Amino acid sequence: MRYIGNKRKLIPFIRQGLEELGISGTTACDPFAGTASVARFLKTRGFSVATSDIMAFSYALQWAYVVVDRPPRFHGLHDHIALDSDPLAAAIHHLNCLEPRSDFIFEHFCPDGQAGSEHERRYFTPENAGRIDAVRAQIHDWYLDGYLTDDEHFVLLAALIEAADRVANTTGVYAAYVKSWQPNALKPLRLRPPRLVTGTGLECRAHQLDAAKLVAALGPFDLLYLDPPYNTRQYAGYYHIPEIIAEGWFEEPPRLRGKTGLPENGDKRSNWSRRRHCEQAFEDLVNTAQPRHILMSYNSEGIISEECIERVLRERGVPGSYRRLEQSYKRYRSDRDSKTRRYKSDQVTEILYYVRVA
Ligand SMILES: C[S@@+](CC[C@H](N)C(=O)[O-])C[C@H]1O[C@@H](n2cnc3c(N)ncnc32)[C@H](O)[C@@H]1O
Repeated sequence: MRYIGNKRKLIPFIRQGLEELGISGTTACDPFAGTASVARFLKTRGFSVATSDIMAFSYALQWAYVVVDRPPRFHGLHDHIALDSDPLAAAIHHLNCLEPRSDFIFEHFCPDGQAGSEHERRYFTPENAGRIDAVRAQIHDWYLDGYLTDDEHFVLLAALIEAADRVANTTGVYAAYVKSWQPNALKPLRLRPPRLVTGTGLECRAHQLDAAKLVAALGPFDLLYLDPPYNTRQYAGYYHIPEIIAEGWFEEPPRLRGKTGLPENGDKRSNWSRRRHCEQAFEDLVNTAQPRHILMSYNSEGIISEECIERVLRERGVPGSYRRLEQSYKRYRSDRDSKTRRYKSDQVTEILYYVRVA
């Protein structure tokens, strides 16, 4: 999924960091999990991972990519769809063949919808908006009728969230749509089976909690991997559509406002994206956690100062164990330079900070 701070392309750097720093163990916590790319990787390295994020769509991705440990069998769907030797592929195929219907996403996030028409929210073509509605409703109905296990439910939801993102008419974030249709938006919505990590026997847990709350509740564990927001852009405002798809609209449809259709009561603002609060939040979290190792991803343009990171980690860690590794990479551009934001260069330095605690 296109996501600010997605570490998918930096996994080799994180792997190198784990090896160079001699980080081993069996339990890890990734409390800013986002797309779950790092937590998924840690699971492949043999860690039982506890993940969290404030966003509901992240919770679905965490569950699919980290909690699920057995290939879903979809036994409950036996009487409803033809399940062959690959039940996940069969379930996905069924969802891909549904007729579009006009429901919440169609009404609010495509130009043909009545509710969004005042602003002509061009996030999806009418065809794709209708397909998202049809797939979301089918997943909801199956789950409500008891045909899906939790694992199966979140695997299908993750597949839908990612498929919708591939055809979203945006430059990567949902804070704005593009006025003309982008080539990706004109492609038909197609769900793909998520790349699950199964058969490990590891017990992993997903949460939708504030990072500090999860860490405080955990007790001792081996590795705390921190990847907090780098800037003042609130994720809740940048990814409200995946959030609506994850939460659904079936009991109480969210009330939306403005040009982009932000939910009225969807305030999930984070102190980690506020200049005046992020350093305190960081210090509190590091001092509450009880890991043996702390590894933190951050970049050279982050709002927590390097002096603060170094001081807090050195104070918390074993003397002499503090380390800093860095790697340059090409910037993820979710939007262009503007009057208010001018990128310094196309290269950003990604940093891994490390300290051993025990
Ligand atoms: C840099 S991103 C993490 C990216 C992730 N490592 C990945 O590879 O996709 C930061 C994440 O922190 C989450 N976040 C922000 N404030 C939070 C909080 N107080 N508690 C938990 N998660 C939070 C955001 O929703 C976002 O997903």
